[in-house]
Amino acid sequence: MKAVIPCGGLGTRFLPITKSIPKELLPIVDVPVLSYIINESINSGVTEVLIVINPKKQIIKDYFSRDDELYEKLHKLGKADLIEQLNLFNNIDIRFIEQKSPLGLAHAVYLAKEFVGNEPFCLLLGDDLTISETPVTKQLIDLFYQTSSTIIGVQRCDNDDIVKYGVADVIDYNGKFSRIKGIIEKPPISKLPSRLACFGRYILKDIFRYIKNIGMANNGEYLLTDALGKQCLDSSVFAYEFEGSRYDMGDKLSSLKAAIELSLLRKDFGKELKKYIKELATRI
Ligand code: UTP
Repeated sequence: MKAVIPCGGLGTRFLPITKSIPKELLPIVDVPVLSYIINESINSGVTEVLIVINPKKQIIKDYFSRDDELYEKLHKLGKADLIEQLNLFNNIDIRFIEQKSPLGLAHAVYLAKEFVGNEPFCLLLGDDLTISETPVTKQLIDLFYQTSSTIIGVQRCDNDDIVKYGVADVIDYNGKFSRIKGIIEKPPISKLPSRLACFGRYILKDIFRYIKNIGMANNGEYLLTDALGKQCLDSSVFAYEFEGSRYDMGDKLSSLKAAIELSLLRKDFGKELKKYIKELATRI
């Protein structure tokens, strides 16, 4: 299956750094968020990725392009380990398309129409990072092969943060897997249709014809939620409670938490970091 990763947004929640550095390229120590997301798709069996950027995010393209001069220098210095890290994306076809202005997620997804054709595809939001034993996208793909329907990755959100997300309006709640009749975008806490928030991972089937028929929302954007709502009216759409942790990398505190979690897993300094955090905890 192909994957689409939209990175065309403005990243206003992460200003001032996002004035010049896209949030999708912000580092978890030395590796950008987007690399983790591409790795999730590779580990889920994806071989072709389309990244949607905006005209000010050419730096994303630079990051994934081959730098022969650097390779040569590293080769001469005998830095095989570093070359190996740069080679990580050699086996995947990464393409780019420009979204001229940030007209919303549905608009960004529509730009992938030619790239994906009539096939179902994975959508991984460029600012949502997941950590799980089985990659979250793989969990969704596995389920897709059983249902052949659009699947939305959700997780229970028991706190008030839920009002920041699209929330699934569930018809038959069946453990981790539910059919839905729509998604309510950022509902007030008094009107929550469920506690299942949509967290940035999807398998989309036949979505373009629904996107084509939505209007612009009050915030000036075309919302994927609106297209999915229309799809629910004439075919089955499922919400799947995926396993793993998910971090909103467009949110400052959440991004710091992800950096700590992922750094603790590192072989090169994870143990040292753990020691430091324990020692720090005795002082604060
Ligand atoms: P967000 O709404 O979280 O990102 O979109 P944003 O608009 O950049 O962030 P804030 O709210 O201003 O801080 C989720 C993902 O979809 C992409 C974003 O780049 C992000 O990775 N996106 C969003 C697009 O590609 N195009 C858009 O028009 C909007």
